[in-house]
Amino acid sequence: MIAIAVLGHGTVGSGVLEVFNKNHESIIQKAGEDMEIRYVLDRRDFPDVPYHDKFVKDFDVILNDPEVRVVVEVLGGLNPAYDFVRRCLEAGKNVVTSNKELVAAKGAELLAIAREKNVNFLFEASVGGGIPILRPLSQCLSANQIVEIAGILNGTTNFILTKMFREGMAFADALALAQQLGYAERDPSADVEGGDACRKVCILASLAYGRHVNPEDVHTEGITHITAEDVRYADAWGGVIKLIGRVKKLEDGRLFAMVSPAFISRESQLATVDDVFNGILVRGDALGDVVFYGRGAGKLPTASAVVADVIDAVKHLKARKYIFWEPAKDGYVCDYLEVP
Ligand code: HSE
Repeated sequence: MIAIAVLGHGTVGSGVLEVFNKNHESIIQKAGEDMEIRYVLDRRDFPDVPYHDKFVKDFDVILNDPEVRVVVEVLGGLNPAYDFVRRCLEAGKNVVTSNKELVAAKGAELLAIAREKNVNFLFEASVGGGIPILRPLSQCLSANQIVEIAGILNGTTNFILTKMFREGMAFADALALAQQLGYAERDPSADVEGGDACRKVCILASLAYGRHVNPEDVHTEGITHITAEDVRYADAWGGVIKLIGRVKKLEDGRLFAMVSPAFISRESQLATVDDVFNGILVRGDALGDVVFYGRGAGKLPTASAVVADVIDAVKHLKARKYIFWEPAKDGYVCDYLEVP
């Protein structure tokens, strides 16, 4: 029996428990190993939710239980998530996270610890919510040189822009609705000012180019100054306004990355990506363009990617096989390693 601990019972954490509860049988079958949720860490009490008897307030209870082999970090934010994840990895526990702030800032360091301790550190849900993007990018597309990645990486801003465009809704009302639906970050300025999309660009860049890209070095502009008039003008010019995150390799080898609102022609596939959906276009030198599309935020879509990582972590525990995004020039590239 593999014991699992979930750090945080917010939108994503409660979704993880819901998916785990609902699909328990098939999840165990796919992982090839019985598993249980042993702890849920949260300062608050939730007397009426599934696993309510598993709630703890002290992180050390989880850290000191040797039967906890997989820890799911869905607290969000850098602290205390960074401290908890680092200590779990150092204690030889596998970690799954949806926390893009953590991965963008500390991914390379945490992966190095994971490698040293022969455990997995998996973060598929940190970009694109439920859309499979990190594994396809680093595995299925590994034969390609990645020419460029450009995409709608933030569901909240896309939801707001869609509501402004299709329903003439005011910015503030659309944001309030996105928050109510559980799409927005705890501090929605990370969404509307572009910081969340910037972190996702940095993670994608690190995987595609094996080079750490510092969020502070990426020109980042959000959508707070976009008005209903801008949206109408874009329409009159045959397009829409979308918040686009972009990274590409320049001819001299340097990386160019930025996040900003952009005019997107109706002809572009990205123009049809509406509501909370994300669309990520990857251009490979052999494949050409491929677009990853789906729900980029929200409780169950994000939980879908988190629980899939848990299944992978447990499967690999059994096979003693670890997916490493290996530190390379301060970034990380994907590698599989079997431990005898
Ligand atoms: N606030 C984020 C978004 C959540 O709206 O895309 C998913 O990363």
